[in-house]
Amino acid sequence: MATVTSVSYFKRYKMEMELHSIPLPRLPEEFTFAPWSCELLDIHAEVLFGSFHQEIDAQVFPSLGDRQGAFGLMLEMTRKRGFLPEATWLLQGPLGPCGTVQGLRERDGVGSIQNLGILPGWRGRGLGEALLLQALHGFRRVGLRRALLEVTAQNDAAIRLYRRLGFRRSKTLYKAVPEWHRF
Ligand SMILES: CC(C)(COP(=O)(O)OP(=O)(O)OC[C@H]1O[C@@H](n2cnc3c(N)ncnc32)[C@H](O)[C@@H]1OP(=O)(O)O)[C@@H](O)C(=O)NCCC(=O)NCCS
Repeated sequence: MATVTSVSYFKRYKMEMELHSIPLPRLPEEFTFAPWSCELLDIHAEVLFGSFHQEIDAQVFPSLGDRQGAFGLMLEMTRKRGFLPEATWLLQGPLGPCGTVQGLRERDGVGSIQNLGILPGWRGRGLGEALLLQALHGFRRVGLRRALLEVTAQNDAAIRLYRRLGFRRSKTLYKAVPEWHRF
């Protein structure tokens, strides 16, 4: 029998920005953006897992901590009514796929960035910034005027990136994560 024995609370920030003047993404040579297609579902899921499973968000969203869970999350995302292929991109590098981002239409005029991830070995070269900009331009192309996202307060690298591009904190949230124990 599985029982909840404790609950941890993770502080998260909702961050938002207007999409009127965003720079074009710039990729180093040998990197390209692959647009969304169903055949890429497995690859997005694998990159999602690789980018998140050792990070704080795998504690907040335990599905990110294993391959099957990441695949399930990715599949669920693509089946949502607001799923936006235009804001969902795979980053291909010289040695294969190395980044993923997904986008949803949140409500009228607003796009929501989901799960921006760059594989650990490829970080610190501007790829996260470029992939995020690529998704934001996707929002613009479908007529959205504003973007939002949520980030765990301990995720300094991600918060610095979001602030650099113009996202500002609009709300503080606490995500309850139950811990299940089997008896
Ligand atoms: C957050 C994340 C996507 C950032 O990806 P990234 O590719 O490292 O991002 P960037 O390279 O654009 O920016 C990272 C740093 O590299 C620096 N940088 C960019 N290009 C550079 C270059 N050519 N040379 C040296 N440094 C560079 C940036 O200035 C930035 O510096 P900072 O950490 O002081 O802000 C990545 O850390 C990640 O996948 N984390 C795990 C998953 C996660 O938590 N995602 C966010 C969920 S909300």
